[in-house]
Amino acid sequence: MYYRNYIAKKLDMESITPADIVLPPNSEMGDFALPCFKLAKVFRKSPVQIAEELKNSFVTDEVISEVSAVNGYLNFKVNKVGLANNVLTRIAREGDGYGSSDIGKGKTICIDYSSVNIAKPFHIGHLSTTVLGGSLYKIYKFLGYNVVGINHLGDYGTQFGKLICAYKKWGNREEVERGGIHAINALYVRFNEEADEKMESEAREYFRLIENGDKEANNLFEWFKKLTLDYVQIIYDKLNITFDSYAGERFYTDKMQPVIDELKEKNILKESEGASIVDLESYGMPPCLILRSDGATLYATRDLAAAIYRKNTYDFYKCLYVVAYQQNLHFKQVFKVLELMGKEWAKDMVHVAYGMVSLEDGAMSTRKGKVVWLEDVISRCVEKAYAVIDDKNPDLENKEEIAKTVGLGAVIFGALYNNKIKDIVFSYDKVLSFDGETSVYVQYTCARANSVLAKYGEKIELPEAYEPNPQEVEVIKALAALPQTVLDAAEKYEPSLIARYAVDLAQKYNKFYIDCRILTAEGEAKAFRLSLTEAVLQTLGNALSLLGIGVPEKM
Ligand code: ARG
Repeated sequence: MYYRNYIAKKLDMESITPADIVLPPNSEMGDFALPCFKLAKVFRKSPVQIAEELKNSFVTDEVISEVSAVNGYLNFKVNKVGLANNVLTRIAREGDGYGSSDIGKGKTICIDYSSVNIAKPFHIGHLSTTVLGGSLYKIYKFLGYNVVGINHLGDYGTQFGKLICAYKKWGNREEVERGGIHAINALYVRFNEEADEKMESEAREYFRLIENGDKEANNLFEWFKKLTLDYVQIIYDKLNITFDSYAGERFYTDKMQPVIDELKEKNILKESEGASIVDLESYGMPPCLILRSDGATLYATRDLAAAIYRKNTYDFYKCLYVVAYQQNLHFKQVFKVLELMGKEWAKDMVHVAYGMVSLEDGAMSTRKGKVVWLEDVISRCVEKAYAVIDDKNPDLENKEEIAKTVGLGAVIFGALYNNKIKDIVFSYDKVLSFDGETSVYVQYTCARANSVLAKYGEKIELPEAYEPNPQEVEVIKALAALPQTVLDAAEKYEPSLIARYAVDLAQKYNKFYIDCRILTAEGEAKAFRLSLTEAVLQTLGNALSLLGIGVPEKM
C-alpha cells in the first residue's frame, strides 16, 4: 500500500487514487503501473497520449527510480535498495505484529461458528466451520476489531427428550461417563432404531419436563451437555480455537416471545394452516416458519431472537454466520425477516457459506457407523505426519511434538486452502505432501530458514546500500504483500488468500534459496540474505498463525 499511496500522491490528480495503481503482469515492465484508459474520458485524449504526457512530467526520486509509458500504461520501477530497506526494517520492527493494523478499532464483529450439536457427533462436516471461523476470528483481531466468537449450540429440541428416555431405559452412569459423547450418541441412535410408540410418548414428556424446568430432566440434560463440551474442547485446543460465548439455541427460550410479539405488532406475522409464518413470496422465497401449528418454535425463530440479542448485547458492526451453503435459504429468510421488521442493521448480517468436505478414503467413513468423526480425521493425520517425518528425518528430536504441529496444520490447511465455497475432497496424502501446496511445505520452508539462521548463530545487521538481485526482489515483494493480503482476506471472508500467500512466499524463498548462496556469500550479500531469511521466517509464521497453524523449529 505504501507505494500505491506514494505514487498516487505524487501524480497529484483528483481522478487517481491508490487503488488505481496496479501490479503489472511481469516485473520486467515495472513494479507498479497506472492504466490510463479510465482517464481517457476525463481528459478526452487517448490513453497512449495520457501515459506519454504523465511520463514526461513525472520526476523520479529516491523511491521511484524509473517511469515509462507503454501502450496506455504508465509503468513505475521502484528503487530496489529503498524497497528492501523499507520492507525488511518494517518486518524486523513489527515482528509478530507484521501485517496487523488498527482499522477495526472501536468496531465489534460477532462470528457464529462451529456451533456444535449437543449429544450429536462432531464430524468432518464441522471441520470447515470450525477452522474458517477460527481463522476469521484471528484475522479480525489482528486488524484491531473487537471479536466475539459465538458457539451457537444446538441444544434445543425433542431429541433431548428421546435421549433421556433412552438413557433411563438402557444407559448407566459409569458407561456414559466413560464413553462420553460416543456413548450418548449410541443411546440416541438406539432410540431411533428401537423406540416404540410408548417410548416416543415418554420422550415427548421428558422434553416437556426439560422445558418446564424439572430438576432431574435438566440435570441429565446439563450432564449430556457437559460431556459434549468437554469432548469438543479437546479438539478446539488442538486446533487453536476459542469462543467468547456458548449461548446456544436454548439460551433464547425466553427471548422468542418478544420477537413473536414484535412480528405481530408490525403486522408481519400471518396465520397459515394453523401455523404462524412470515410470507416472503414477493421476495421469491418460501415462507419463514415462526411457530408450528402446535405452538412450537423453530430454528429460524431462535435465530431471529439470537440476532436481536446480539445486536443489543454487542452492538456489532457485522455479524457473521460461518455455516454450510445448505443453509443459504435459512439465512436469506432470517435476514429478510429482520429487514421487514425494520432493523436497519439487517444489512450487517453475513452468511459466510462454505462447501462440503468429503473424504477420499472410503474405509474411514464406516469405522464408527456412517459418520466420520473429526477426532478420527485429526488423529489419523497426526499419525501419518509422524510416519512422514520419521521417514524423512529419523534422527529428529521431539518427533511426536513435531508430528502434532505438522498433522494438525495439515488438517487445518487442507480445509482452508481452497476458495471456501468449493466442495473439497480431503486426502491425507495430499495434505501431508512436502512439495505440494501444503502447510507441510510452508512449515518445512520455515525449518529450512531456521536452520540457516541457527548455523549462522550471530546477530544480523541489515546492510543499508545493498542492491538486491531479481530473485531477492521477488522475495521482498512477496514479503511486502502480507498486510494487504490480510485486509483482502478479511474483506472477502476468505482465509484461503492467506494460505495461498504463504505458499507463494515459501515458493519464492525456496527458489532464492536454491539459486543464491547464503552462508557462503560474502560481506553485504551475506548479511542481506540472512536478513531476508529472518524476515521470511517471521512473515510465514505470522501468516500461518492467522490460520491457527504453528511452526516447528526443525522438521
Ligand atoms: N448447529 C447448527 C447445525 O449444525 C448450526 C448453527 C449455525 N448457527 C446459527 N446461528 N444458525 O446445522
